[in-house]
Amino acid sequence: MVTGGAGYIGAHVVRLLLERGEDVVVVDDLSTGREDRVGEATLVELDVAAGDAQQRLELVMDERDVDGVIHFAARKQVGESVQRPAWYYQQNVTGLANVLAAMETVGAGRLIFSSSAAVYGMPDVEVVTEDTAPQPINPYGETKLVGEWLIADAERAWGLRSASLRYFNVAGAGWADLGDPAVLNLVPMVLDRLARGERPTIFGDDYPTPDGTCVRDYIHVLDLAHAHLAALDRLGQGEERVFNVGTGEGASVAEVIAAIGRVSGLDVTADVAERRAGDPPRLVASADRIGAVLGWRAQHGLDDIIASAWEAWQAGPRRIG
Ligand code: UFG
Repeated sequence: MVTGGAGYIGAHVVRLLLERGEDVVVVDDLSTGREDRVGEATLVELDVAAGDAQQRLELVMDERDVDGVIHFAARKQVGESVQRPAWYYQQNVTGLANVLAAMETVGAGRLIFSSSAAVYGMPDVEVVTEDTAPQPINPYGETKLVGEWLIADAERAWGLRSASLRYFNVAGAGWADLGDPAVLNLVPMVLDRLARGERPTIFGDDYPTPDGTCVRDYIHVLDLAHAHLAALDRLGQGEERVFNVGTGEGASVAEVIAAIGRVSGLDVTADVAERRAGDPPRLVASADRIGAVLGWRAQHGLDDIIASAWEAWQAGPRRIG
């Protein structure tokens, strides 16, 4: 079962699972996901945070003989989580609790959880390891950390086997029809502005970084999808349950915008705006643990990420030029 399998990252995992012949049932409320992304998988329209979700999930799990769950279904907008904290806990924590309760009832014992680098908050380190103290600075990051705790409790209580993947900055497209449909993150935000004939915006160029703009660890969504399969296949091996998913390489906002210019051939001269609240200057993963325990490492760098994002954008309705 893939919850949130009609969303941006989930749909990539669904496609990989189908490619290797797995029987996949997608559970998605289609609030941000799209039906045409799930391919041959069965789609069950269901909000995992709804009052009757546990019972409905149990029925689907029973009927389809579900033995593992990849749980993406959640809300992911930091600003919105600051405005509506209770709703974020309902959606992200209650949603996960419903999934876990249903799994326990039917005896489905394998779970991969979408966590986030947002659990780290503003770490003052060059590279973030899984042992860097988590200190989320917004409700979104809190719900992901609480989710990890709840999963660890379920492991102790009834023998669940799990992996929580802390995603760094996800971008790109593994297939041109599976680009990021939302305009919430740097790469789509730049493409969106270019499509409107506007200049990209840099939120602050006076950070303590080499070029003054914020540094992030950009991970190709297809690499991230493969990390889920690696986690699923090696579940329960080793002691570790929490993994960073990043490349170990940082790229600045200015470097990302320059890469978009190179790939597209467009003028990407940017305007510099005020800093955005809550942005850490630098957030780069150590990917050592996931390499050592799950045998996974990123295959794609920034240029591949941007080229694939561009190709997917140009395949969509808002083609530029
Ligand atoms: N940025 C710009 N201009 C834009 C858009 C973004 O300068 O038009 C900057 C941001 O200020 C930030 C960087 O680009 O410095 C990356 O911003 P994103 O919004 O793409 O990503 P974040 O690093 O802020 O957030 C991502 C995920 C969150 C998660 C967080 C974990 O989107 O879900 O990483 O730290 F919480």
